Amino acid sequence: MAIAPSANDLITRAAKLDAEDPLAHLRAEFDLDPDVVYLDGNSLGAPPRRVAARMDDVVRRQWGGRLIRSWSEGWWTAPERVGEKIAPLVGAAPGQVVVADSTSANIFKALVAAVRLAPEGRREIVVDAATFPTDGYIAHSVAEITGVRLRTATVDRLEAVLGERTAVVLLNHVDYRTGRLHDMAAITARVHAAGARMAWDLCHSVGVLPIGLDALGVDFAVGCTYKFLNGGPGAPAFLYVPSALQDGFDQPLSGWGGHRDPFAMDPEYQPASGITRARCGTPDILSLLALEAALEVWDGVDLAQVRAKGLSLTGFFTECVDTVLPPGTAEVLTPRGTDRGHQVSLRHPRAREAMAELIDRQVIGDFRAPDVLRFGFAPLYVGHTDAAHAALALADVLAKE
Ligand SMILES: Cc1ncc(COP(=O)(O)O)c(C=O)c1O
Repeated sequence: MAIAPSANDLITRAAKLDAEDPLAHLRAEFDLDPDVVYLDGNSLGAPPRRVAARMDDVVRRQWGGRLIRSWSEGWWTAPERVGEKIAPLVGAAPGQVVVADSTSANIFKALVAAVRLAPEGRREIVVDAATFPTDGYIAHSVAEITGVRLRTATVDRLEAVLGERTAVVLLNHVDYRTGRLHDMAAITARVHAAGARMAWDLCHSVGVLPIGLDALGVDFAVGCTYKFLNGGPGAPAFLYVPSALQDGFDQPLSGWGGHRDPFAMDPEYQPASGITRARCGTPDILSLLALEAALEVWDGVDLAQVRAKGLSLTGFFTECVDTVLPPGTAEVLTPRGTDRGHQVSLRHPRAREAMAELIDRQVIGDFRAPDVLRFGFAPLYVGHTDAAHAALALADVLAKE
């Protein structure tokens, strides 16, 4: 590929930005093939190096050596302990975050609990019309099971459906397709002003920017840990329930893990106090402890710096795309203002083929039907040089079509 002068400029600028990056040292924490440009950390985060060593200890010593004794030596209480490591990333005081089950299951728990908590007359759930599908599917199921009505609306037209019948609103903080970041403070305040409860899906924003769940009085939040938190494929999700709502949190998956005294083998379900009542069954220890190790990488990391770098990476990548792609080649779907997460989405009619070819060239992003190329920028291990190389490879791929 012949490199145009503007491309050389971009690579020089990228190298300068990387040299000034206060988070650059964190890349050494990750096991990444130096020949790969990995821009899919918004789907599956890269493995922190320490995870493999921790898993070796978990499997050989804790499981193999300590056997069943490990349940009382830290395994049973891992959901709350790992929750405490996520709490500072979402602005939650201790005792309000638990790691258990999938995001989908936690949405189910939170929505049913929200409907049960709602005052009489509030018989509607509102869900984002552009939501990640699982949220919509679960909301639909909850509406059916609890006998309430499901309403959908785009975030910009919430007012059209929000009212005295709304029990709870469920929204994605960052739109998974476009990368648009919604204004959590303003929307939460609007929903509360309508007398309803607010549930946020933080899958694409946790680990991206400072989030203030307690400060904003958010009622429920869920999120996955295998994207920007690098917990590993299928790592369990988290659920946030603020202390003030925990006594009334009547969640429907009343498994023994959420019982007040699980080992009493009580025939009657009696919920535990605190966030523990949000648990259901036996925790998936291998995944949970891999996540625990992965979260240690965040110790001492300043989320404001993570956010600044993410904006810089996504802004720089967009600028590279503008520079190296002929005008009109691909539409940038991601907002150019600061109302974006850490991904850039481009629309192109041959997006599927283009992404397949990029992946063949070791530039890994992903494709979302029908025509969206997504490039995720995880600030802990992605640099501006990766962004420049990805944009140049994309220009090359699209030039051939
Ligand atoms: C916004 C959002 N919610 C939920 C999920 C997935 O939920 P689960 O962990 O249950 O598969 C994703 C996965 O990409 C997502 O982007």
